[in-house]
Amino acid sequence: MRAGSGRPPAAWAADRVPAGNRWAAGRPILGAVEAFRIVGGARLAGEVRVTGAKNSVLKLMAASLLAEGTSVLHEVPDILDVEYMAELLRRLGCDVVRDRATRSVSITVPEVPHHKADYDLVRKLRASINVLGPLLARCGEADVALPGGDNIGSRGLDMHIAGLERLGATVRSEHGFLIATRDERLHGATVWLDFPSVGATENLLMASVLAKGTTVIDNAAREPEIVDICTMLQKMGGQIEGVGTSTLVIEGVEALSPTEHTTVPDRLVVGTWAVGAVMTRGDITIHNAVAAHLEIALDKLVRAGAIVDEVPDGFRVACHDRPRAVDVVTLPYPGFPTDLQPQFIALNSIAHGSAMVTENLFEARFRFVNEMVRLGADVRTDGHHAMVRGRQSLSGAPVEAADIRAGAGLVLAGLVAEGCTTVYEPHHVDRGYDGFIDDLVRLGADVSRVDV
Ligand code: EPU
Repeated sequence: MRAGSGRPPAAWAADRVPAGNRWAAGRPILGAVEAFRIVGGARLAGEVRVTGAKNSVLKLMAASLLAEGTSVLHEVPDILDVEYMAELLRRLGCDVVRDRATRSVSITVPEVPHHKADYDLVRKLRASINVLGPLLARCGEADVALPGGDNIGSRGLDMHIAGLERLGATVRSEHGFLIATRDERLHGATVWLDFPSVGATENLLMASVLAKGTTVIDNAAREPEIVDICTMLQKMGGQIEGVGTSTLVIEGVEALSPTEHTTVPDRLVVGTWAVGAVMTRGDITIHNAVAAHLEIALDKLVRAGAIVDEVPDGFRVACHDRPRAVDVVTLPYPGFPTDLQPQFIALNSIAHGSAMVTENLFEARFRFVNEMVRLGADVRTDGHHAMVRGRQSLSGAPVEAADIRAGAGLVLAGLVAEGCTTVYEPHHVDRGYDGFIDDLVRLGADVSRVDV
């Protein structure tokens, strides 16, 4: 079924994920298994438009909980994670209506939302932890199932918990739930984060905008997605200074109002297209893209041999020769993003020369290397380093996507491998890339979604 289409079937075009929906479950229990089938050798050329960032919109949806009434978000990507977050908000008592034609979602929040987020949704969507801060601030209690680790490694919550406790919350873990309560209104405090955690910065922001007094988040994350949520909170009436720096100062207010906001473009999808252009010696103009959000990654691509030219709403990436290998070291923003690390391993695996890739954020992200080796890549890992020796070519093989970015990296590798590559577990890619296969086909790739 559905060969040639990159979109999930009509079943999930409904507003809710229906019970038993195979997309929600990830894969069917019996019978055929879905996969991406890629015939290597095509050059990617043409234009592509990127929508809003997954890693922002999920938090913006959570932020809407902070105000009673209807908030509207634009440039919402049509991806599974948005559907999961919509379902989570519905279970918290919100009315969530998606309009796919205009890429918008409207969220109507009741006076007092429910405060419990169950494991069945939390396990599918780690970003569910982002309802912790807003629910605690609005309802006085938040019970959020513990998400646990995932395919990219253990993902701690110690900074979320310690920060909320400094704001006056009591947090305990009970029967698989993280239960945060407060007696009175949360109060302002200075929170020093051990590490500029994206998720902890967001939860603390959302808790402190309604706290009494001044909160300082020191060593805060600075990602464009953090700037985006700060901008939305400011529109809602939040008082935040230092946006885009590592010190955020929040002056709590009594109440916020609903708002309308356009999600920041997805720099990780943009980066994936840019790497695809270089790997296939192609020429892609990427619209709704902000080059400034990808400075280090684009500099690496230029060193690899790419030509990057700005266009009014984005930029064009072209490459005429075999790329040169480039070292990368992942770090919090503005460092090189961990979410582009698999794509750069794919690039280095067919580049001229050798490169060292160092992963500093997620210890298990190199699991994807085993799949690259199945495609003939010469990659060796040692701790958080991977040495990649570029090969003239890769050879198509069946491989499995363990997470969103690993899946994207494997699809890119399949594009340059000789013969046919089958990428299993494609639902991971669907969680983060809106219309990926359709866009690839438009750009000239021989890719389809198949039942194997
Ligand atoms: N960490 C802790 N304790 C904490 C919080 C984080 O030890 O309390 C550790 C994590 O275990 C991890 C590191 O700090 O090793 C970074 O975690 P961070 O909190 O910054 O990341 P996150 O909020 O869990 C978001 C994105 C990830 C992206 C990272 C880093 C979302 C939904 N997820 O995760 O995106 O890789 O920031 O930029 O926004 C993806 O999109 O594929 C993805 C994994």
